[in-house]
Amino acid sequence: MTHAHITAWLLALILFFVALGLQKGGNAKGAKIVQMILRVLYILILLTGIMMLFDLTTISMLYILKSAVGLWIIALFEIILARTSRNENASVLWIQFAIALVLVLYLGFSLPLGFDWF
Ligand code: HEM
Repeated sequence: MTHAHITAWLLALILFFVALGLQKGGNAKGAKIVQMILRVLYILILLTGIMMLFDLTTISMLYILKSAVGLWIIALFEIILARTSRNENASVLWIQFAIALVLVLYLGFSLPLGFDWF
């Protein structure tokens, strides 16, 4: 399940930047299509994450934090894409994005399931 989870969020991360690139290139229609695929991936990320949570016997605070930050990144994907499509400033969101990404990678890879790097 961790591999499905990693595949889903890695693909989502790539498609998020593809959608941004298409927006910047003025291809609004292409960006919309990529964003639809991205939304399907959110469901997969959520499902695989929730399935891992259900497999646990005890859910510690770190798991709750990990899941919350994961959800926050998904929210940021959506808010950043919406803002940049309207040509609004998103720099505060990008700072949050960087912090949330480092946090979620650290928490995910330090928690015991799947890879346990830290
Ligand atoms: C874009 C969003 C997300 C990213 C980048 C992300 C990233 C990660 C990473 C790197 C791992 C470690 C995998 C491994 O050790 O093999 C992981 C595990 C996990 N994720 Fe996520 N995740 C995201 C969203 C979510 C969400 C929304 C949830 C909850 C609903 C969730 C729940 C979990 C759980 C329970 C684990 C297992 C932790 C462990 O290794 O013991 N994740 N995630």
